[in-house]
Amino acid sequence: MSAIDLKALLAGAGNEHDRWARTINPQFVRVLHTIGFDRTWARADGQYLYDSDGTRYLDLLGGFGMYNVGRNNPRIRAALIESLELELPGAVQLGVTALPGLLAEALLARTPARLERVLFTSSGTEAVEAALKLGRAATKRARVLSLDHGFHGLTLGSLSANGNSEFTSRFGPLLPGFDRVSLGDLDALEHELRSEDVAVFLVEPIQARASTCRPPATSKARRPSAAGTGRSSASTRCRPVSAARERCSHSSTGVSNQTSCPSPSHSPAATSRSAR
Ligand SMILES: Cc1ncc(COP(=O)(O)O)c(C=O)c1O
Repeated sequence: MSAIDLKALLAGAGNEHDRWARTINPQFVRVLHTIGFDRTWARADGQYLYDSDGTRYLDLLGGFGMYNVGRNNPRIRAALIESLELELPGAVQLGVTALPGLLAEALLARTPARLERVLFTSSGTEAVEAALKLGRAATKRARVLSLDHGFHGLTLGSLSANGNSEFTSRFGPLLPGFDRVSLGDLDALEHELRSEDVAVFLVEPIQARASTCRPPATSKARRPSAAGTGRSSASTRCRPVSAARERCSHSSTGVSNQTSCPSPSHSPAATSRSAR
């Protein structure tokens, strides 16, 4: 079998939007065309994207996965090349190899001491699925609590904990045993936990996916372990992301021309995975 020649493959490419629509996701391509984010991306370097005309764009997407370290990060590229060239015995099914244990040790040296083991996954939603399974297996309880507006991923377990109907509404029935409370509503949380059937409580410290939510000010004084008596439930104040983005730089999921801040409808590209 001949080797796969990526350079030759790419040299014959073109019409990638058509191909993407035909082979991967026509609706996403329609959205890109409609909002004017249908650039042809030619190259990436750290926080910059370059289109086929050579125009450089500052990609403001960050906060998770490889976006934290930038595209084509030279140190990561070197480590990947090195690991391939070492011809390591990866993914032995009945046995262990040196590198995962060494990497786990390095990670644990950087995390709080109460974290004692590492599970390697390739996505956030896999980590959440693992937490759901581990929590249920360890406690022999079934229920999972999460917060309204929380985002935990798009596989079915994570989606069942997702508190945003725009992500979940078309995929029911979701898994049983999942309930939500509002951010900052400790009375509701205590009420749910008192039944002692909750295996897992999932919390995002920052609910960046669906909205900008702040717990009510009164919750600052509360301690989660305190028994609740006579407290009134204050509601969480949420500002839709769309409103936050309109204040310029549409930063959490977008790409912005570094010299200007065009209105969202004219800006060049977004890579929100929720839209894919
Ligand atoms: C808080 C949170 N949890 C889980 C996920 C899911 O991660 P992934 O998209 O890698 O599956 C995300 C992704 O944005 C996230 O923001």
